[in-house]
Amino acid sequence: MQILDGKLVSQAVKDQLATQVASLKAQGKKIPHLAAILVGNNGASETYVASKVKSCAEIGYNSTLLRFEDTIPEKHLLDHIAMLNENPDIDGILVQLPLPKHINEELVINTIDPSKDVDGFHPMNVGKMVSGLPAFIPATPYGIMLILEHYNIETRGKHAVVIGRSHIVGTPVSILLSRNTNPGNCTVTLCHSHTKNLAELCRQADIVVAAIGRPNFVTADMVKEGAVVIDVGINRMEDASKKSGFRLVGDVDYAAVAPRCSYITPVPGGVGPMTIAALLKNTYLAATGQRGHQN
Ligand code: GUN
Repeated sequence: MQILDGKLVSQAVKDQLATQVASLKAQGKKIPHLAAILVGNNGASETYVASKVKSCAEIGYNSTLLRFEDTIPEKHLLDHIAMLNENPDIDGILVQLPLPKHINEELVINTIDPSKDVDGFHPMNVGKMVSGLPAFIPATPYGIMLILEHYNIETRGKHAVVIGRSHIVGTPVSILLSRNTNPGNCTVTLCHSHTKNLAELCRQADIVVAAIGRPNFVTADMVKEGAVVIDVGINRMEDASKKSGFRLVGDVDYAAVAPRCSYITPVPGGVGPMTIAALLKNTYLAATGQRGHQN
């Protein structure tokens, strides 16, 4: 069993971006600038956004963090996004989800200029991705493709079972894995809450992508010997022995599943850091006038 080390691969991506940014700087060109919007005080969102902003600084990007109370009227938030759209210094805009209930997430996403939508959530980017046109690909699926690519994992002709059909992960990763690309060319089964015989389908998988947000959902009896397991879950479990009061647990029962796998991503240190690396790559593409990734 080999661990797919997201920290290592993400660092390699960041090192490469840092070199590219240094080169932009040396040529007197514009440095990528990411604007991140955080609404409210959700602990996990705060951690993710802080990590994104810190990573920008590490590789020489500019970043702006806009924080708002969870009572912010929807209109104010939309106005701020419109200002960022108009600001030529801002290359990428990220609104951390979830948003408070009174704010319409769809409206917020639709307000972001598609050419600055480095999360790849705008319907324009989703549509382009599905059509195989250059598009910003959502960071988590993009990060998964990057880690599969880095480890040269054979995906062609393999049966990939994706658990979870969210717009952010499950749906886009199922599309990317089915593409005539490398990585790609998988036969994909997308499982969700209405799937019958989920465990049985999972057992047939050469590649399992677990993205349901339920701790330890994928158990050893659901995984074929030699499978590749990608664990997207970042679940907080109470743990009094930790200073923070919690520990992070994936959607996969790692201890029991790992010995059966050919490759597996750990939590933390697997998909999480790759999501950030992919976001930074998208921001670079946006800053250099490219309409996203050619998939
Ligand atoms: N919430 C959970 N994942 C993400 C992500 O990739 N981007 C944003 N903006 N919010 C998220």
